[in-house]
Amino acid sequence: MMHTTLSQIYEPMLLALFGISALVAIVLMWINAPYGRHLRSGWGPTIPARAGWIIMETPAVVAIALMFIWSDRHFDPVSIAFLALWQSHYLYRTYVFPFRLRAARKPMPILIILMAITFNCWNGFLNGAWLFHLSPERDISWWRDLRFIFGTALFFVGMIINRQSDAILLRLRAPGETGYKIPHGGMYRWISMPSYFGELVQWVGFALATWSLAGLAFAVFTAANLVPRAVANHRWYRQTFADYPQNRKAVIPFVL
Ligand SMILES: NC(=O)c1ccc[n+]([C@@H]2O[C@H](COP(=O)([O-])OP(=O)(O)OC[C@H]3O[C@@H](n4cnc5c(N)ncnc54)[C@H](OP(=O)(O)O)[C@@H]3O)[C@@H](O)[C@H]2O)c1
Repeated sequence: MMHTTLSQIYEPMLLALFGISALVAIVLMWINAPYGRHLRSGWGPTIPARAGWIIMETPAVVAIALMFIWSDRHFDPVSIAFLALWQSHYLYRTYVFPFRLRAARKPMPILIILMAITFNCWNGFLNGAWLFHLSPERDISWWRDLRFIFGTALFFVGMIINRQSDAILLRLRAPGETGYKIPHGGMYRWISMPSYFGELVQWVGFALATWSLAGLAFAVFTAANLVPRAVANHRWYRQTFADYPQNRKAVIPFVL
């Protein structure tokens, strides 16, 4: 009975996420989300960025955990592996990254936080519903499947790129400093936003490893959200720093 209800809402929610991604990409080509370097007045009340990150990302940790707890796959190694991949990213993003921010009190609009909470509940529910309830159960031979092996490898390569790039940025400022500098090293040699590139690679890897439309929808949304912002940030760097390296692309090495 529960599964019937779940399968009835899963499909429309999945389709909606693809639709919302298209909308988000179009809107973000014209309007930069008002946080970080694109923060500006007129977007309502704000709270400090550190608290904002913790509040808006916590639903991603909790939603998928609840879907797992609510399932009957607690001892299924493949389900546990999927949960571990997800949480290895979100535990870092929610409870480690915010404490490394140097401008932790920078204002973040509550509107941005509410939109992120909505997405994280939606996405965590959708992926959890598929992985732990609706997908056919996969036995441990999935660990030897090329999709799982290659997808998991991509996920961790993306994670390393993402974390290294975040770390380079966060080290640019002394504690309490708020200005911007040109980042160097790692994949900054080739692109302005390697943290976004890494994030994208991670979720493409996750979609492959789970071989799921829910995972694909998440990867598509990540691209819709991050590619337009990477292009805007790249333009901002070029306009802000006269000595900005000319050969850097925005987000995909040698391409975009
Ligand atoms: N999956 C998704 O859809 C999604 C969405 C958003 C973010 N994320 C991930 O979350 C992480 C943070 O994203 P973000 O958009 O906040 O990234 P970001 O603009 O690169 O900022 C990250 C941190 O570095 C600081 N910073 C950025 N550029 C700097 C520079 N040139 N000099 C000195 N400090 C600089 C920022 O300060 P300011 O705040 O003062 O600018 C901020 O504290 C990334 O790893 C990203 O992939 C994922």
